[in-house]
Amino acid sequence: MNKPLSPTTSRYMPTDSPQSASGAPVAVKSLSNNHTRRQFLKSTLQTTGVAALGLSAKTYGYTAKEVQDFFVDGQMQRNVSQWELDTPALCVDLDILEANINTMQSTTRRNGIASRPHAKTHKCPIIARLQLDTGSVGICTAKVGEAKVMFEHGIEEIMMTTTNVTPTKIKRAMELSRINTSFIHATDSMSNARLLSEAAQAFNITAPVVVDIDPGGHRTGITPGESALMLAQLIDSLPGLSLRGLLCYDGGSQHVQGFAARRDQTLGRLAAATATYDLFQASGLSTEIFSGGGTGTYNIDHNIRGLTDVQVGSYLFMDTQYLAIGGENDNSVYSDFGASLTILTTVLNDQYEGRCTTDAGAKACTINQPWPQVKGEQGMSYTSGSDEFGTLRYEANASRTYRTGEKLELIVSHCDPVVNLYNHLYAIRGETVEAIWPIAARGMST
Ligand SMILES: Cc1ncc(COP(=O)(O)O)c(C=O)c1O
Repeated sequence: MNKPLSPTTSRYMPTDSPQSASGAPVAVKSLSNNHTRRQFLKSTLQTTGVAALGLSAKTYGYTAKEVQDFFVDGQMQRNVSQWELDTPALCVDLDILEANINTMQSTTRRNGIASRPHAKTHKCPIIARLQLDTGSVGICTAKVGEAKVMFEHGIEEIMMTTTNVTPTKIKRAMELSRINTSFIHATDSMSNARLLSEAAQAFNITAPVVVDIDPGGHRTGITPGESALMLAQLIDSLPGLSLRGLLCYDGGSQHVQGFAARRDQTLGRLAAATATYDLFQASGLSTEIFSGGGTGTYNIDHNIRGLTDVQVGSYLFMDTQYLAIGGENDNSVYSDFGASLTILTTVLNDQYEGRCTTDAGAKACTINQPWPQVKGEQGMSYTSGSDEFGTLRYEANASRTYRTGEKLELIVSHCDPVVNLYNHLYAIRGETVEAIWPIAARGMST
């Protein structure tokens, strides 16, 4: 059985004085949430003057600033329902998020590997802290900017999974290394390794480095085998660098439909990375880190000999892309993790037969596909193709229709780019806003 993983108030509140990593898995206390709907309405109407305006509670929309002002000394002073938020609003269901983290931590532990979650997905230091405090060995970032924000919020165990190639980025990465000796760089070429070495020497530091191995997709990484071995040997010999191992992220296998096909492709493609791991070991090179894998293969990757940790990202939130890939026990739906991330949107127009228009279009949802799904409803399809407007169409068996001013929740298409559209994430327990988390690395794309 998974342990419950509920937050304390301080853990879930934005903080300027970050906590230190504890390492070991922990279970944390739950906030009480005993407010009745009547209490909630009473306090809301008294404090906002909504009644005086003649508006129903559901049409009022608290702004992020208003919600933030309801927190005093880390304690929420109002019982605010998610249905009262101004929209579009990005929400995370805490019960589902915590269950997802528990599933990942317990499965990787049981399989003898670790998790090193990718912060490119959430861009939120509070979530990174939660991952570390429940047993993750570190986090990954795709960009120097993300890594810097995470460090500024007290996260030290950071591994970049992207090679920095320009002088500007290498300089910024080394500046981070100077103040955070745990920051790990990735490289995939001899020429880049030499640049890293020069920069590290200029900063008078020794920078930890992993070799990025191409799993076969040719997106990034060096060819496995002798080429990778030669690069590792070079890194090992260059001043200013310290070899820590290798990474091999097989993005092309994560969304393969059906568990068996996904397992076969992953294990087949990662065989060359394991052979490279063997070469490193035979040459006496560090294999302390052999990182790879993602949400689609988290329960397959431990079969890759030598692999130390999975760089999972989407498991936290899930999305319609991942839900469609099928799991070990159900080939049609990937149900290992629940869809915790939703976009709350308001209906703007209900005047036309068979459809309504909402305020969540491409700028709130992206145009990734499969399109968002209306949470908890059947027989309707959503498209977010217009910049500011979403279109909801009812099919013959639609479970309901919506009136102007009503709100609905969308399960997102692809979580990473959606998160990057928002400044805040509302943390919801039941239907109540428990916290508001800054997406501090939002837009940190360099
Ligand atoms: C290098 C790298 N590692 C890990 C991940 C996380 O993958 P997932 O969201 O499938 O868990 C990604 C996602 O694109 C990635 O690019």
